[in-house]
Amino acid sequence: MVDVGEEEVLLRVHRSGSGWKLGRLVPYRVPWREGMTVLDGLVHVQENQEPGLAFRRNCGAGRCGSCGAEVDGRPVLTCSTRLPRGGDVTVEPMRTFPVIRDLVVDLSGQWVTAGRVPLFEAVDDGDDFWRIPREDVSDVAEFRRCIECFLCQDVCHVLREHGQDFVGPRFVTLLASLDMHPRDAGDRSGFSAESGLELCNVTRCCQETCPEEIRITDEAIIPEKERLISRKDPVARLLKRVLGR
Ligand code: SF4
Ligand code: F3S
Ligand code: FES
Repeated sequence: MVDVGEEEVLLRVHRSGSGWKLGRLVPYRVPWREGMTVLDGLVHVQENQEPGLAFRRNCGAGRCGSCGAEVDGRPVLTCSTRLPRGGDVTVEPMRTFPVIRDLVVDLSGQWVTAGRVPLFEAVDDGDDFWRIPREDVSDVAEFRRCIECFLCQDVCHVLREHGQDFVGPRFVTLLASLDMHPRDAGDRSGFSAESGLELCNVTRCCQETCPEEIRITDEAIIPEKERLISRKDPVARLLKRVLGR
């Protein structure tokens, strides 16, 4: 038990890496101030108590997506999460990914998956000037708000349990952002068929976690699941052609 004063906050931070190989929570007392975030607390620890503490950060404003971690077991951006006065808060790395050191995780596998998604291919109809009604790109614009924080990947139990078998909600959102673009002619059926999308049981945890409030499950995953089923099922494909949807 570590006592913490009214004007302090106790951060229990995951430490691992050289000298801390097994990983453990180390308590740090930090002076509290109004509006302070978890990231501010980590910076204070690094500047005043433990220069070797490793974590990622960049913008400090919820825009770059680099500061994701689990705070009291919830995947959040540490720069957008307030520290309560007199609080006792646990900060751990995103547990879906291998830990490199302290709070820094290895995201290299995510960039490999990103590289597998076939790129945008413009429709070749001789029209170089694109007139696209706003309502036709509203979903795509929502998906483009993604800051690649990978918190949705972290919270998804399918990714945690099945690892490589599912590309995860971030990449279904990327797939949908390309498939739903009215000027795209790319064929991503191969990627979709191998994505493991059928493993998602629509728990919506990804959608509830996304700091950009992207409707990942409702607007990307469910439509992509429907698209996948209609590609696999000839009757559904025929009905789609007949009914025009
Ligand atoms: Fe982060 Fe949301 Fe993008 Fe997932 S979809 S990586 S939670 S911004
Ligand atoms: Fe995972 Fe989101 Fe599906 S959390 S199970 S991808 S709805
Ligand atoms: Fe950029 Fe948190 S530091 S999103």
